Amino acid sequence: MSSTNTQDPSDGTITAIIAAPPRRLHGATLLTLQMPDNLAQGIVGGRYFLVRCGAQTALEREEQWQFYLRQPLFVASCGRVKQEQGEDQTDAEARAYELWELILPDSQTPGYRWLAAQAEGASLNLLGPLGQGFTLLPQSRNLLVLATADRAAALLALIEPMLDRGGRVTLIVHTRGAATDNPLLPLLSIPVEVHLASTDAQWQQQITETLLWADQLCAAVPATMFQPLAEAIRQKRFRLEQEFAQVLVEADLACGIGACLACVIPVANGGYTRACVHGPVFDLTQLVR
Ligand code: FES
Repeated sequence: MSSTNTQDPSDGTITAIIAAPPRRLHGATLLTLQMPDNLAQGIVGGRYFLVRCGAQTALEREEQWQFYLRQPLFVASCGRVKQEQGEDQTDAEARAYELWELILPDSQTPGYRWLAAQAEGASLNLLGPLGQGFTLLPQSRNLLVLATADRAAALLALIEPMLDRGGRVTLIVHTRGAATDNPLLPLLSIPVEVHLASTDAQWQQQITETLLWADQLCAAVPATMFQPLAEAIRQKRFRLEQEFAQVLVEADLACGIGACLACVIPVANGGYTRACVHGPVFDLTQLVR
């Protein structure tokens, strides 16, 4: 395993190494990247990196601007690895690193197509992790996770922390009519209860049946599903309480630091907010009336 992943103090970017062959999911591919140690702080689900496309070395990054916008890659998982101590290494020299799995969407965007063509061992330049991700409330033990099949991997990083605290997880995936097996099967822990819904009616029914059981709900679904979800919660639980439901919002994440306003989204009070820094995960009460 290469140990050339670094953090560049001159511009704050990260050099990561593609550490394994890509893994195909439904509607996306997982990229496994070796990153410097101590990047992950807390739960990483819902957070993202911005990756430079079309350039790998520092010189290429200065000169090649055919894909001038960085592209967002959402986090699927993160784990720390301690390297074996070599014979001529002190313990302090035996380095640790992190392996992150990031979600590369199926997309014809040229930058994403360039990323999809990169082989194991290639280096990538990233900024991140950025944004506000999902949080698990200290008292939560029953976690309901909702996703369309193409977005489901963005919720994976929530599952292990809930199981680790002795909690339970139910995952409902809307396959939108596609005949698909559980798109996350190879990646899920056995204790996760999974339901597949291929129609809106099945989706509504399965959510309704699970809402009273849940202490907390986290969702990665299209924005058109936010209002129906809020109404289902109000019907079953009588009101939509703050901190009960969090949703991952789709937005144009361009700068990641709140400067360009490409990512503004409307909020429930009639105003707007920048999803890149105040999200992309929001409490559902912030987005629906
Ligand atoms: S992406 Fe630039 S302000 Fe949010």
